[in-house]
Amino acid sequence: MSNVAETMLENQGEWVATNDIVASDITQRPSISVLGLGYVGAVSVACFANLGFHMVGADVVEAKAEAIQAGVSPIVEEGLETLLRDGVSRGLIEATTDIEDAVKRTDITFLSVGTPTAEDGGCDMTYVRAAAQSIGRAIKDKDAYHLIVMRCSVPPGTTMSVVVPEVEAASGKQLDVGFGVTFNPEFLREGVAVNDFYNPPKTVIGASSPRAAAQLAAVYRVVDEKVLMCSITGAEMVKYIDNVWHAAKVTFANEVGRLCKAIEVDSHEVMDIFVQDTKLNLSPYYLKPGFAFGGSCLPKEVRAVEHLSQVYQIRTPLFDSLMASNKLQIEEGLQLVREFTGKRIGFLGVAFKCDTDDLRESPALELMAGLLEDNQEFCAFDPNLKIDSSTRSHFEYMRHARPHLATLMDKLPDVLRPSIDDVVNNCDVVVVSHSRDDYRNAVIHRPKGVKVIDLVRLFKELPDDPDYIGISW
Ligand SMILES: NC(=O)c1ccc[n+]([C@@H]2O[C@H](COP(=O)([O-])OP(=O)(O)OC[C@H]3O[C@@H](n4cnc5c(N)ncnc54)[C@H](O)[C@@H]3O)[C@@H](O)[C@H]2O)c1
Repeated sequence: MSNVAETMLENQGEWVATNDIVASDITQRPSISVLGLGYVGAVSVACFANLGFHMVGADVVEAKAEAIQAGVSPIVEEGLETLLRDGVSRGLIEATTDIEDAVKRTDITFLSVGTPTAEDGGCDMTYVRAAAQSIGRAIKDKDAYHLIVMRCSVPPGTTMSVVVPEVEAASGKQLDVGFGVTFNPEFLREGVAVNDFYNPPKTVIGASSPRAAAQLAAVYRVVDEKVLMCSITGAEMVKYIDNVWHAAKVTFANEVGRLCKAIEVDSHEVMDIFVQDTKLNLSPYYLKPGFAFGGSCLPKEVRAVEHLSQVYQIRTPLFDSLMASNKLQIEEGLQLVREFTGKRIGFLGVAFKCDTDDLRESPALELMAGLLEDNQEFCAFDPNLKIDSSTRSHFEYMRHARPHLATLMDKLPDVLRPSIDDVVNNCDVVVVSHSRDDYRNAVIHRPKGVKVIDLVRLFKELPDDPDYIGISW
């Protein structure tokens, strides 16, 4: 066993040694072909072989197949060549340019061909299509069920609308009868890809059937017992969103850096403290799709930082886009509510968030102000609101930021109702802007036909209810 493999195995307390896997398990392990021997494919071939799988790599580029067959890494990647050499010498790695033969001789095919940016900025599917056609031709005369594992990063929908039809057309077989499909995004980082393979940040599988899901989960069991299962389109989207998030983080940190440098603050001192907050900063908090942000702090401080950038003449397009994007989310909500112009509309939740009486820059107020402008009647309930002089002071606070809310703030006492029932039983449409158990119950038990516009995702599982409308789901 190689030093690299040994080190990795030592890091995994419960693992059995690689050679033990080969001796005891190899006959039960499915054989795997990998189409596309680039950064992703070459690492898969080497690392799965190290776990005792029989791997057949295939690429249209002869030099890549030849390199892998000779145990030589076609790319620069720490530890890869040692694993490849080891796998070839143990008879667990083969490589070829005969794509169909590779598929025919294996139980599972990993698809890791390139998906470069197309001329129109979208995703170029040329290689995915060609590889899917090859798989289809290869399994045409195969008796056994074949599992296809999509590893390419592609727009959501691609696996079902491109890969499956190409395979079905070329093979004459039907999905989940002759073959199964999974989407299994790759999260490796180049440079530390081998280590990432054995210590994955997560393993995600979207599958066409429970059979396909179980088959692939079994392959990954040694490296990750806790596989995250989801829909195929969900898994495709996860991959894109992960990378957009990473890009957003880099851009955010760089805008912080530009601004800090201009105002002579050490950006690393600031960000070192920033990342230590795992309760609010680096956490799931604030990462649930829903309604716009508001309150006495976020909008005010985003505006203040935008202003700082202007004063110091620093360009911070990411920061500058925040208020604009937030405004779009308010418009999105308003558009949903305006679908019901002329109906009786009621709000559950008025303050800027649950469990507070703070009305300052509450996004629910923006919706109400929009309705007021339309001369549309509405009512509202919020258990935390007492309409007194403090309401006026809330408006004073946001007078410069939200001057258009003045009329609404005056009208608020007439709009508020004393109970949830007063809203739900007297409206055609209920807009829910806080996530609370009593609101959830009220929505579940509302009179038949009352529409619900949910701005907060009241239910984890979406209700099968034609009268239920979610803002971003
Ligand atoms: N590189 C990464 O760090 C990374 C990480 C996660 C996901 N991904 C995604 O994985 C996929 C592969 O990425 P990569 O960086 O390995 O690409 P790559 O360009 O390095 O390799 C793709 C390989 O596919 C081969 N190929 C093209 N058509 C083929 C066909 N019909 N049959 C067999 N082989 C074929 C090419 O010759 C090439 O060797 C892409 O969708 C990419 O977005 C890449």
